[in-house]
Amino acid sequence: MKIKLNVWRQPSSEASGRFEPHTVENVSQHMSFLEMLDVLNEQLVLEGKDPVAFDHDCREGICGSCGFTINGIAHGPEAGTTVCQLHMRKFKDGDELWLEPWRAAAFPVLRDLIVDRTGFDSIVEAGGYISVRTGSAPDANSIPISKESSDSAFDAAACIGCGACVAACPNASAMLFTSAKASHLGLLPQGQPERWRRTQSMVEVMEEIGFGHCTNHRECEAVCPKEISVDFIARLNRDYIQASLGRGSK
Ligand code: SF4
Ligand code: FES
Repeated sequence: MKIKLNVWRQPSSEASGRFEPHTVENVSQHMSFLEMLDVLNEQLVLEGKDPVAFDHDCREGICGSCGFTINGIAHGPEAGTTVCQLHMRKFKDGDELWLEPWRAAAFPVLRDLIVDRTGFDSIVEAGGYISVRTGSAPDANSIPISKESSDSAFDAAACIGCGACVAACPNASAMLFTSAKASHLGLLPQGQPERWRRTQSMVEVMEEIGFGHCTNHRECEAVCPKEISVDFIARLNRDYIQASLGRGSK
């Protein structure tokens, strides 16, 4: 296959960016999207040019490092899939693709397709952990947890922090991420002592950093590679109201 690419090139946060056209020949349908970019980068290096910078680590859809938009869709056209797990068989010979970094004020572009997602770390630092002393590891199953709660907590814990939800949201809201990170703790007994304080501080830090509010577009859910449900946003909102009404002080 021959694929035409228009890749966002931006040398630094301060510099302005532009789309740069490239053509990649002999693309196998078995390649992942990132492997196709590896081929492009080999070409660029041989030509003495700067390779395209993009984030990646595991290339197995589990670390959350990768991510950019392909023709305006975060992580590209395959639902429930990170860009590292997207394969070229999803595209046709001669397709023209536009690759852009996540667009959000809270995710400044560092270089080309790489953005700074430190904002997510700050939200987690604000409460996405359990600090109670738990002593030594308890026996398995010593704390009864309903199947419904454990399944739901597991679904929330599947969030890999990729940032696609923010990129897809017209408000650049981080509510899907924040709600997943708060819920996977708040649904379990171990997460109860800090539940209300956690909710308040994570939401407040999210707003301070400059992520927008949720106005129910559900674009986040549509692009999330882990198919995190917006039900967690509703849960976070309910907890936030309870915390604001003083439950957290009890
Ligand atoms: S909620 Fe989904 S889209 Fe958002 S950071 Fe987590 S895995 Fe990525
Ligand atoms: S490189 Fe790890 S999720 Fe894509």
